[in-house]
Amino acid sequence: LTAVASPATAAAPVVVAHRGASAYAPENTLAAFHLADDQDADLFEIDVRETKDRRLVLLHDATLARTTDVEQVFPGRAPWRVTDFTLAEIRRLDAGSWFARDHDGERDDGERDYDGERVPTLAETLREMSDSDLGLLLEIKTDGQRPDLEARVADELRAHPGWQQPGRVVVQSFDWAAARAFHTRLPQVPVGLLGTPAAADLPALAGWARQINPPYSALTRSYVRRVHALGMQVLAWTVDDPAVARRMLSYGVDGIITNRPDLGDLADT
Ligand code: G3P
Ligand code: CA
Repeated sequence: LTAVASPATAAAPVVVAHRGASAYAPENTLAAFHLADDQDADLFEIDVRETKDRRLVLLHDATLARTTDVEQVFPGRAPWRVTDFTLAEIRRLDAGSWFARDHDGERDDGERDYDGERVPTLAETLREMSDSDLGLLLEIKTDGQRPDLEARVADELRAHPGWQQPGRVVVQSFDWAAARAFHTRLPQVPVGLLGTPAAADLPALAGWARQINPPYSALTRSYVRRVHALGMQVLAWTVDDPAVARRMLSYGVDGIITNRPDLGDLADT
């Protein structure tokens, strides 16, 4: 896989670190984003959700249970939905210790200890990573709720001019209405649609979407061609297997979204 700087102008496929380098560091943490940078990813992907007090934080799941110690810190508040906790409460949580536990059972000598990683806000992530060479693939997670989340994401991006270079940020969502509403608010930031729209619907979507980002298992060479013919790009997820990466590249995808940004080295071997 060849690294390129900008997803919007890329002539060669980009490597997108899914939730950061999440095979090696706890997902959606600053540690995972820095590792993605170290591993020469082109972009990092994040999941953005809202807290009870409408602050933007990075978390994949609708609840805090899997990736933090919320059950220990706030017993009795099941099911620990992020929308039921304030940012101040969420900042008390450890978002790193689960990772070693889940991945190795116990820590080996020399294994990095991620205890103490926090759930980052979108603002601190934009600040922290602005000096890196990474682009950002920002997923808005609405679960069909939280109206106007895209408006607050647009405001946050506007407040961070370091991320305003053309193509440095792409905003994507499974919620296509939210993606379209975001694009109306901030048209200079391209948007991607997660999922696999019917081929017949692609021409209308091409009027405002820049990317179609399906699971790799749904992709065919002819679908990629159709998307390209309409001037859009394709990013395939979640590609952790070098053989699958090679197949996706043979289909002509514009990039792969992977938990293992160092997969590029493997795919070249
Ligand atoms: O970027 C693609 C991928 O993130 C979509 O699925 O569930 O990992 O957010 P998910
Ligand atoms: Ca995601």
